[in-house]
Amino acid sequence: MATLRTIKRRVRAIFKPETVLHRGQILPGKNLRFGGAHFLDNEAFLAAGERDARALMQWCGLTADSVVLDVGCGTGRLAIGIVSTLGNIRSYCGIDVNETAIDWCMRFITPHHPSFVFQYIDIRNERYNPSGLKSAETRLPLQDSSVDVISLYSVFSHMRSGDVCAYLEEFRRILKPGHKIFLTAFVEEGVKDEEENPSGYQREWKGSLHCMRFSLSFFRSLVEASGMEIIFYDHGTETDGQSAFVLQRR
Ligand SMILES: C[S@@+](CC[C@H](N)C(=O)[O-])C[C@H]1O[C@@H](n2cnc3c(N)ncnc32)[C@H](O)[C@@H]1O
Repeated sequence: MATLRTIKRRVRAIFKPETVLHRGQILPGKNLRFGGAHFLDNEAFLAAGERDARALMQWCGLTADSVVLDVGCGTGRLAIGIVSTLGNIRSYCGIDVNETAIDWCMRFITPHHPSFVFQYIDIRNERYNPSGLKSAETRLPLQDSSVDVISLYSVFSHMRSGDVCAYLEEFRRILKPGHKIFLTAFVEEGVKDEEENPSGYQREWKGSLHCMRFSLSFFRSLVEASGMEIIFYDHGTETDGQSAFVLQRR
């Protein structure tokens, strides 16, 4: 017998479809997408995921044989982009503090692509999971030196430096030596070390952790303290003026 939760979900899906089929890929319904109004367009959403997959191929050596960790995977934009670009890869793990997003990925991606798995993690984020646990208590569900590529698109842009550090420490543990991380963040020169929702910067910010901006020197010091180095930096080229970074484990 259907549970109350399943019935509610079915009724909601009549008014707000959970999926859209576009160019042969199952995409999340428009109300389930993260990352701004431009992703309401199906082609823009899929093309951005494909572009990010190609960036991982170019900068981090992503291949069909890679083990990938996507932190803050949302409703699978990168996973769908990888499937559309490379097909099924050896192993992809998407983690997120948003249970609804992980639930969607588990129901609509994993059944078609079993090497793509998703896990909800209960880490506190004032914007996305205000009742979660402190990040310092978190250990990611991955073995030491087991991951080839880590991606965080638009995730450090919503985290304070203490939480960024806790993640960088974990990445140092799970990433294979010499392997790489692709991430985006709000980083500028000549600004305060860290500032939440800086006024007059890029656009109007609303609510906790909508934008966390770091100074370049401070961000570099966090990366280096965790045993990694910045090997590529492209200023202001990503969503809302975030910068792209490639880090390498020393
Ligand atoms: C702007 S969305 C980006 C989603 C996805 N990376 C993309 O580019 O489509 C930020 C995502 O980070 C997730 N997030 C925030 N804090 C997190 C944390 N501490 N650990 C994992 N995910 C987190 C949010 O739940 C949300 O899905």
